[in-house]
Amino acid sequence: MIDPERVHEGMVRFGVFLGSFAPTRWFTSLMFSSPKSSMLRQTIRGVTFENPIGLSGGFDKNAVTTQIMPLVGFGFMEVGSVTARAYEGNPGKHLWRMPASRALVINYGLKNIGAAAISRKLKRRSFAIPVSINIAKTNCRETNEVAIGIADYAESFREFLDIGTFFTINISCPNVTSGQPFHEPENLNRLLIALDAIATDKPVFIKISPDLTHEQLDGIIDIALEHRVDGFVCTNLTKRRDLSTISPKDFVPGIGGISGKVVEALTDDQIAYVYRRSQGRLLIIGVGGIFSAEDAYRKIRLGASLLELITGMIYQGPQLISEIQLGLVQLLEKDGFTHVSQAVGIDT
Ligand SMILES: Cc1cc2nc3c(=O)[nH]c(=O)nc-3n(C[C@H](O)[C@H](O)[C@H](O)COP(=O)(O)O)c2cc1C
Repeated sequence: MIDPERVHEGMVRFGVFLGSFAPTRWFTSLMFSSPKSSMLRQTIRGVTFENPIGLSGGFDKNAVTTQIMPLVGFGFMEVGSVTARAYEGNPGKHLWRMPASRALVINYGLKNIGAAAISRKLKRRSFAIPVSINIAKTNCRETNEVAIGIADYAESFREFLDIGTFFTINISCPNVTSGQPFHEPENLNRLLIALDAIATDKPVFIKISPDLTHEQLDGIIDIALEHRVDGFVCTNLTKRRDLSTISPKDFVPGIGGISGKVVEALTDDQIAYVYRRSQGRLLIIGVGGIFSAEDAYRKIRLGASLLELITGMIYQGPQLISEIQLGLVQLLEKDGFTHVSQAVGIDT
């Protein structure tokens, strides 16, 4: 019955509290983290991930839980989406539950305190797990102009050159005034030319929408392969309302993007397509509807090297992260694999 946005904010605040003191950090680790398995440890583009389960972008918008998430068992995490200018969020309600569909509707519209304020905080911090800075374009009218939008992305990108482990360029937020102009190959090309010109050794991922057709994906994949792009985060939230995964028992507002089990099949299709089409040259972080080890394993077998989640953790609780790791090891062993990388793309 409690407003889900207040629950979200409460969870983040509790995470900050747990991460602030040695005894609470010890207790969290005791409660949630599972023994590390060498079967799940991977070094990808020079970055070591103790396990492939990450916290997806949007849970920790202002990068306040980086001390606690490693102790919950995450192998990496995204912070943000961060935008060059602060944004207080779209007017009205931002979150709805869809319990029968096991999903959420999200309409924050990239609420965050802005790149400069977030980078100032993170500069003094060290991280126990890889951290991706998820960058989006400020949600305001001016950045609807493509050139201004590109400058906005580039400003945030520069702000984090010395902070974090890799970048996620979010071009697929469904709740902004501009729509998703960087899904157009020509605009994406211009954006990536601008980012290529900023020197960095960090891996760069592009986060895309589950609502793209295969033809649109072809255009995006071809452009990505011409630039400094290491891979894709598949996927963001869906805008679609015609999906059979939406239970008629749930209220679905006309605004907002949908997560969880509603987006899962679209995501899985996209992971397989990107893996096949890029012949494994683009790394894939699979995210959408992971509620169990079986869900995670399916995405790996379709082509994802790393995984992320939010909605599963909200519905099932934070112990899910360790349960997935333990389950993944069992599933890999059952199929005769000795390392997670051997299963990547095996079904595609
Ligand atoms: C509360 C909430 C806020 C989100 N905000 C962002 C965001 O700011 N940036 C972003 O790239 N994705 C955002 N997302 C999308 C998630 O990162 C993820 O792609 C999507 O929810 C599918 O994963 P899930 O089914 O495990 O939640 C958000 C999702 C949720 C649930």
